[in-house]
Amino acid sequence: MTRSSTSELPPPDFVVVANRLPVDLEKLPDGGRRWKRSPGGLVTALEPMLRARDGAWIGWPGIPDVDDVAPLVEDGLQLHPVNLTAAEVENYYEGFSNGTLWPLYHDVVAPPAFHRHWWQAYVAVNQRFADHTAKVAADGATVWIQDYQLQLMPGMLRELRPDLKIGFFLHIPFPPTELFMQLPWRSAIVEGLLGADVIGFHTAGGVRNFRWLATHIANAGPVRSRNELTVGRRTVKLGAFPISIDSAQLDALSRTDEVGKRAAQIREDLGNPKKIILGVDRLDYTKGIDVRLRAFHELLTEHRVQVEDAVMIQLATPSRERVELYQRMRDDIEMSVGRINGEYAHVGHPAVHYLHQSLPRDELAAFFLAADVMLVTPLRDGMNLVAKEYVACRHDNGGVLVLSEFAGAAVELTSALLVNPHDTDGVKNTLYAALTMAPEEGRKRMRTLRKQVMTHDVDRWARSFLEALGMDT
Ligand code: ADP
Ligand code: G6P
Repeated sequence: MTRSSTSELPPPDFVVVANRLPVDLEKLPDGGRRWKRSPGGLVTALEPMLRARDGAWIGWPGIPDVDDVAPLVEDGLQLHPVNLTAAEVENYYEGFSNGTLWPLYHDVVAPPAFHRHWWQAYVAVNQRFADHTAKVAADGATVWIQDYQLQLMPGMLRELRPDLKIGFFLHIPFPPTELFMQLPWRSAIVEGLLGADVIGFHTAGGVRNFRWLATHIANAGPVRSRNELTVGRRTVKLGAFPISIDSAQLDALSRTDEVGKRAAQIREDLGNPKKIILGVDRLDYTKGIDVRLRAFHELLTEHRVQVEDAVMIQLATPSRERVELYQRMRDDIEMSVGRINGEYAHVGHPAVHYLHQSLPRDELAAFFLAADVMLVTPLRDGMNLVAKEYVACRHDNGGVLVLSEFAGAAVELTSALLVNPHDTDGVKNTLYAALTMAPEEGRKRMRTLRKQVMTHDVDRWARSFLEALGMDT
């Protein structure tokens, strides 16, 4: 096929494809438009990596029916928008991606729904992304496809452009085989993924689950080695590549005077409590925000914690607001916050401060620096970058991280206080232990956590994946 460039831009040698662009288009009340940063960990991780490599990013601009945005260059990064219609947003994005795959891959902590018209939209949109990428990428380019929204795309793109090197990385957990087998379209998904040369997961468990499926329900031939499969004449590599953050950049940001002053200001604004407890998440039912609210509520009820001494802050980025499960969860969380404050707040002193807002990075860094205890309690999470961000900001070795065993980050961050989020007493007692931990023990743990996070950053993650793909990094 001819690769006519749809724009003036030179065909890129390195292309990232993700459902979302790193920026979202926003329609303003006066009819104008502006770009703002997209939510979520995928963008946090990939944006610095791709900027450092002068690549191109293909993705959806975040609102439906915008087919008039030409490719653009932003700070050296080519952005190529792919349009989705309103019906596709409903069926492919809100439906199959976030109503079927997201809950299924997160251990069915909410029930996945299986609808054939959602699946058809998923196939059609994956094909559109493949067609678009086939037109944009230079001869022999490296194309790195991201995440659960685009699992059919590796196979589709290989059909169109066998000259490309194709990588795929899954940012969420790959589920146990028993759960994956519920999916009516299970073989098509596994075969779609097998179109890649390298398939990356966060953990060795994901690799194991996928390897079993590839050899039992798809067209993979013999296993050549633990991490290599034969598919026709090709070899497909599998690997565990735990993602990370731009640790040095966050460390430097948190050392600035502005962030230091802002952290002190936050504590003062809260009435100088002895302890600040913090949660930072996309508002998602996998994150266990309810778990930590329950633990804090019980500590107040049992008088083990007084509202004058400890205050909780929950920062929650709005997410997937048109999906019903998310609307219900938001209502539940806001009701819990209201109940805790109704029972325990004093005028001018809420027990829980709750912001349903997305904050700028420097503001977030100040909250991390101010927080004595960071609560990261997902029921299931691929990695959880917030846990690593907290550690990267604690250049003072202060603060205690409480981390769910079911976050991918728990594999690396073993010096955190690890909790089972299903065990309310365990979370409660661990929160209490974090609030009362001797400073020297806290510092010792944080020093160990920082050794891991500062040396295993996102660039190291990207290099290890791209080297497996045979790209010169
Ligand atoms: P997920 O990818 O599921 O959203 P991660 O923890 O891996 O979870 O990544 C979330 C990203 O979103 C982090 O970079 C975090 O700093 C950012 N984030 C979460 N909540 C907020 C918020 N309220 N304001 C700004 N950024 C946020
Ligand atoms: C997680 C997913 C990403 C997704 C992000 C934000 O990080 O792994 O693929 O982009 O959440 O979710 P959203 O649905 O708003 O893109």
